[in-house]
Amino acid sequence: MSEHRISKLIIKWYNESKRELPWRNISDPYRIWISEIILQQTRVEQGLDYYLRFIERFPNVQSLAEAEEDEVLKYWQGLGYYSRVRNLHAAARSIEVDFKGVFPKEYHEVRRLKGVGDYTAAAICSFAYNMPYSAVDGNVYRVLSRLFNVDLPIDGGKGKRLFADLAQQLLSKTNPATHNQAMMEFGARQCVPKNPNCEKCPLQEICMAYSDGTIAKLPVKLQKTTVKNRYFNYFRIHLKDKIYLKKRTENDIWRNLYEFPLIETAESLNFEQLSQTTEFKNLFHEIDQVEIRLIAADVIHILSHRRISASFYEVYISNPNKTLNDYLEIIESDFDRYAVSRLIQLLVTH
Ligand code: ADE
Ligand code: SF4
Repeated sequence: MSEHRISKLIIKWYNESKRELPWRNISDPYRIWISEIILQQTRVEQGLDYYLRFIERFPNVQSLAEAEEDEVLKYWQGLGYYSRVRNLHAAARSIEVDFKGVFPKEYHEVRRLKGVGDYTAAAICSFAYNMPYSAVDGNVYRVLSRLFNVDLPIDGGKGKRLFADLAQQLLSKTNPATHNQAMMEFGARQCVPKNPNCEKCPLQEICMAYSDGTIAKLPVKLQKTTVKNRYFNYFRIHLKDKIYLKKRTENDIWRNLYEFPLIETAESLNFEQLSQTTEFKNLFHEIDQVEIRLIAADVIHILSHRRISASFYEVYISNPNKTLNDYLEIIESDFDRYAVSRLIQLLVTH
């Protein structure tokens, strides 16, 4: 069967222009899996160091499955989208149990792992086993929408099916691994979101968005998710050389990461207003001496669906109270052992 012209051109471009990355030209499905989960919502430049550290500490399924979740989260600290790593850890444990520690070899088995969707399953199966599944990530959606001048939203049902069909038609059936890597790299380096350099693009002649002048409008996405405002007031409470932390166990952002005692409010409150709240009084009742200093007010921290406005107080107390029993008391110098959000890390270095 002959390869599609577009596949040939993009693979040729890839062989001349690709970056050397540690998860390329390997066939270990475990490492490919880790790299793909990291790269789902993270750029290569940022993800590279995380990947190398993660693989050094957890070189195979077994080492990841046996680790404590707290430690695994610590290796992910700062990367965001922490459900990725909680799922990764849970999936490693299920591979230990269901597949005796051997990474599954069938597409449908890989697809059923926690946190693995169509894209990741196709990436793993093509890169590790050279199976003919096309992997369509954000880069590939952009490339396809432009080459074929398709303005169907990439996140709608109709668009997804159309792009999946297109991708599968273009896929090189003799070398799906290289084809998929090439498509992604082409999107990441050549057909970039803003102002791609079409003048030096080997596909310019056949690119329909180029001839129609629609590049800047593609790809089309459905309306953006609304961003919700939240107001966090954090207290780093010192009792001699101790401080207090709490693990976020609710089904909410930063699940299973640690943080300082928190009072969330419906709006931004200054200290005067904050100190009138029940939560505040409850946190500091029956403490003989409390010294509170505002360190940072209304620090804005943007997440994909949240805009957090955070205030940070440094507190020194003379004795503990009952409320603090619900918190983890640690020696302050042990703080770095706990996985915390980027916001908390930012506040402590303020
Ligand atoms: N983004 C997602 N997967 C990738 C890969 N394998 N190489 C480079 N960028 C990627
Ligand atoms: Fe992308 Fe421009 Fe090349 Fe078309 S011509 S594929 S828009 S870089």
